[in-house]
Parts: sequence; C-alpha cells; structure tokens
Amino acid sequence: MTAPLVELRNISKSFGAVVALRQVSLSVGAGEVVGLVGDNAAGKSTLMKILSGVYTPDAGEIVLDGRPCAFTSPMDARGVGIEMVYQDFALVPELSVTQNIFLGRELLQEGLRSRFVDKGRMRERATHLIERLGLRVPPVDTPVRAISGGQQQAVAIARATAFDARLVIMDEPTANLAAAAITKVRAAIGRLKSHGVAVIVISHRIEDVLETADRAVVLKHGSVVGERRIAETRGDELVHMIVAGQDPRDAGASGGGGVEAGSGSGAGAGGEAEPGAGSGRSASP
Ligand SMILES: Nc1ncnc2c1ncn2[C@@H]1O[C@H](COP(=O)(O)OP(=O)(O)OP(=O)(O)O)[C@@H](O)[C@H]1O
Ligand SMILES: [Mg+2]
Repeated sequence: MTAPLVELRNISKSFGAVVALRQVSLSVGAGEVVGLVGDNAAGKSTLMKILSGVYTPDAGEIVLDGRPCAFTSPMDARGVGIEMVYQDFALVPELSVTQNIFLGRELLQEGLRSRFVDKGRMRERATHLIERLGLRVPPVDTPVRAISGGQQQAVAIARATAFDARLVIMDEPTANLAAAAITKVRAAIGRLKSHGVAVIVISHRIEDVLETADRAVVLKHGSVVGERRIAETRGDELVHMIVAGQDPRDAGASGGGGVEAGSGSGAGAGGEAEPGAGSGRSASP
C-alpha cells in the first residue's frame, strides 16, 4: 500500500452545544476518489471545511504526505494543493468565466516597470482547463450569471483545478443539475483521477459515488459508521448504512435492530438516498 496523500486523524468539532464531528478519521490517496456520504447534518461539509482550511478542528490533526499540518485559512490549504468546490459554487455572477476561475490568483505579466494582469493568457488557460475536464462552457468572457447551473459547476471545478491541485473536494457537485450535466461532472471526476488528483466527493446521490468512487465512507451524527470499497458493495448496502447509522459487518451491532425512525430531515428528503434507489450497481463484474 502506498502512503495516503492526506489523512484526517480523530477530528472533533463542535459549534456551541452542537457536536458536528466526533473523532473522525478519513484518508485519501493520490488518484483515489472517496465518496463521503451520510444523512443531513452528519458532518460531511464540516469535515471537508476543516480539510480545506475554512474551520479549524477542536481536536485531531491533518496529515499531508505523512507530515502534520495546520490550516488557518482556505489559502493555506490551497497553498498545499487542497481545493474545495462549494455546494453553491461560490462564483461572482457579474464576473466572467475567466475572472471567476482566476479570482484572487490572477496571472501576471512582467512589464518593463510594472506587472499587470495577463488577460490573454488567463483566457487561453481558462479554455484549456475546462476542455481538459471534458466540460463545455460558452465563451470564457461570458458573465457567470448568464450561464446554466451545469456550466457554473464546470467553472467552479475548473477554478479548483487551475493551480496544480493534489486534492479536489466537491460538495454535492451534481445537486440541482440536469442529467446531461451530471454525466459530465462524473466524467470530470474520472479525468481528475486519471491525472493522479485525489478527489473527495460528498453526494446524496448514491449513483455519483457508485460511478465515480473507489471507496465510500459513511458518516452519521458526526461519527464514521463504516466504509466500503465500491467494488465490494452495492447501493442498497450503502443506503442502509446511511439510514441505520450502523455497519452490518460490525458483529452483534444490530441485534436485529431496525432503521432508526424519523431521524430529523434525513434520507429521503428531496427524493435522495431512499432505500432501494441506489442499488444500481450489481455485484457482478
Ligand atoms: N457554522 C455552523 N454553526 C453552527 N452549527 C453548524 C455550523 N456548520 C454546521 N453546523 C452544524 O453541524 C452539524 C453538521 O453539519 P454539516 O453541514 O457538516 O452536515 P452535512 O453532513 O454537510 O449535512 P447536509 O447533508 O445537510 O449538507 C449540523 O448539526 C449543523 O447544523
Ligand atoms: Mg453539507
């Protein structure tokens, strides 16, 4: 086994009285895709915001290339190649596709006496980045407010991959997208993997995880329920773990106990992760 690229070790985080994460550990290797799944409020976004420098953990550590590191801002995480694509894309509607991709990290050109923003190079690079991911957007000078949700997701992913990302975290990248755009986003995850980039994808669509991930990690109420290699599981098993909050492999854990009833706004909200919906992948090759 090669050493993981990034490890989260025993991460805990509370917001006032709300315990969002309890001693959560998770690792991802270069070129590996990990699906992070779980009910609403399981702690998925909080864990990834810790990994991308938005929040600092109360306890636990982040280990990169075998060395502990601490992030005090998203810029720290970006500096070591960890990028996050937020659920709402976090784009500026009035700015162009190119401006959004390079926002805060504009490419500069050295002049004789000064440095200035190299618009031509940024435009070229923006087009290349989007094409490399197999995504398509209108001309890169178009303001982001004028493009579709799928195209905005493409821009957000391109921004995350613009500067030698080693790990790209995507929070619900297919939520609110049309079927064709979902297919493209899944293919883009495959391309990142083939370039050796690690990806952690949070999704309520179990098919996203079955189609793109090597491994799935299930969270519930801030704790890891269990994990599976995708080749060794099925959608219905993952959905069961998400809803029940138990790993059926944990000896004696269930004792025949059923699914926890009515856990908040849990699975099934918006038609997501309902049992039986995710059994798309058969166990056979
Ligand atoms: N900034 C915050 N302030 C207070 N509480 C928060 C904050 N962020 C998250 N929480 C709480 O932490 C818990 C975990 O939230 P988190 O957003 O990480 O869950 P999630 O798994 O991403 O859920 P969802 O699937 O709904 O996006 C929830 O109870 C949430 O209300
Ligand atoms: Mg979330």
